[in-house]
Amino acid sequence: MKMRILITGNLPENVISPLKEKYDIEINRKDRPMDRQEMISKLKDKQGLLPMLNDSINEEVLNSSPHLKMIANFGVGYNNIDVRSATARGIMVSNTPGVLTEATAELAFTLILGVSRRLVEGDRMVREGRFKFWAPMLFLGREVTGKTLGIIGMGKIGKAIAVKARAFDMRVLYNNRKSIDSKEEEKLRAQYVDLKTLLAESDFVSLNVPLTEETKHLIGKNELSLMKSTSFIINTSRGAVIDEKALVDVLRARKIGGAGLDVYENEPSLTPGLTDLDNVILLPHIGSGTLETRIKIGKLAVENLIAGLEGRAPPNLVNPEVLKN
Ligand code: GLV
Repeated sequence: MKMRILITGNLPENVISPLKEKYDIEINRKDRPMDRQEMISKLKDKQGLLPMLNDSINEEVLNSSPHLKMIANFGVGYNNIDVRSATARGIMVSNTPGVLTEATAELAFTLILGVSRRLVEGDRMVREGRFKFWAPMLFLGREVTGKTLGIIGMGKIGKAIAVKARAFDMRVLYNNRKSIDSKEEEKLRAQYVDLKTLLAESDFVSLNVPLTEETKHLIGKNELSLMKSTSFIINTSRGAVIDEKALVDVLRARKIGGAGLDVYENEPSLTPGLTDLDNVILLPHIGSGTLETRIKIGKLAVENLIAGLEGRAPPNLVNPEVLKN
């Protein structure tokens, strides 16, 4: 009998076609998240799951998936999956690193440029008919070239942002669990500093860490208070890395220059007050949202899924300890 797979998001045909011959596939064809109860009930007889990053695959879901062998997450972040519980049940979990690096770094830079030149505010002003005249000191932003960029989380995406920063002649500081190889530091022209120094010296702070127990609220009231009143914070990682309520407070009090956010602590809900502020750009979690990249993510997730279902180690297995069981 064919193994059964549930795909919770609407992926293009060329992404799912390698699965069609060997597996029975159920796929959510709507361009909206799969209803949770529907997902749980459909998982009762499935061996494979390809969930979206906004499906919470927790104990409740795992408890009702007795045949599950492989979870191939659509995305690099896998904080939506209870990996510990999956491992305890012998279920392999994979993610999709590498393929979305450039798209996410591009979006981080879009936000850096967008917040400093007040792109969204300017667009709104023109559309609303408030562009009545030009004047030399009106609607000024801040220059990016030559400024200091602080990257928190120097993984693939952090490094790609550092490369792009070179084009703007920026000084790059970074903070990471551990410093990177000195040759690579030289190549990226990036200097390791502690978090406090990074926050105090950077004109732009970019968050590029995965969300874990250690990074939840890594940036709270105290950290924000170390930033310069002219500095911007950019988040293309996960919302809960910032204490969003503390962020709204400092933005409202204009204690920092502004923020460019692609992700939110309780996505898609927003902390009250966030949308009233003009010193933020708010995007709907589209870091990896280019057509090219979303196809690559899908293909890599499918590759991982097939490997796991065939009993091989998927190329991007995040819980290798499961193989020891
Ligand atoms: C996107 O947010 C991802 O984790 O892939």
